[in-house]
Amino acid sequence: MRVSRSRVLQKRTNPSSGRTRKPELPLKAGAKRRFQCRLLDWYKEHGRDLPWRKTSDPYKILVSEVMLQQTQVDRVIPKYHEFLERYPSFEALADARPNEVKKTWYPLGYNVRPLRLHSIACETVARYGGELPSDHDELLSFKGIGRYTAGAIRSFAFNEDAPILDTNVMRVLHRVFVGTGDPKSRKNLLWELSEALIPKGKGYDFNQALMDFGATVCTARDPYCLLCPMKNLCKTYPFEKP
Ligand code: ADE
Repeated sequence: MRVSRSRVLQKRTNPSSGRTRKPELPLKAGAKRRFQCRLLDWYKEHGRDLPWRKTSDPYKILVSEVMLQQTQVDRVIPKYHEFLERYPSFEALADARPNEVKKTWYPLGYNVRPLRLHSIACETVARYGGELPSDHDELLSFKGIGRYTAGAIRSFAFNEDAPILDTNVMRVLHRVFVGTGDPKSRKNLLWELSEALIPKGKGYDFNQALMDFGATVCTARDPYCLLCPMKNLCKTYPFEKP
């Protein structure tokens, strides 16, 4: 039986029970495989050489992820090195005064971030002997670690196949697999897609690749559709400015 796309994407109500059913993922096995292969091939050739990809230290990954919230990669790189030189571990950061940490952070902006990072360091030392846990729920119990950061830590520091969804990833998945409507209103669906798409055992590369692809090809304005390896899969190709 053929089911129209709009019907697949709508939240449906079962008329007999009146209960809402979860929308099905708009994901066919062939499209999933092609997306995975093309993204990983693209990443092998075009992935960025970034300092936090040379480590699996959960502390360094956390520092990079907190810095990268709201700040561009180019501005983060020098500060990432400076910060780690000054505070090389959870213990060193926990020992510092919050005001001093705030000064070291300057001029990255959003001054609540260094304070949150400092409090995560204190809690990691006090509750976990200086070792950040890898468990999803334990990570979420820290103030300052949300679902995205927990996924990033699990995949980049602990090599787990954990999903991530930030603005870039949301845009890529929404354009390729959904195509219409507002991505922000489809967050649950996009989280499910992000999880379902990870090739087994390759969460690290796949997630880094998604970020680079969103930041350099499938950009918010003027995406590079003509060069895009996903163009014959993409529900939004060719992108037209609204
Ligand atoms: N933004 C957030 N995390 C990132 C990462 N690991 N690489 C590039 N950009 C990012």
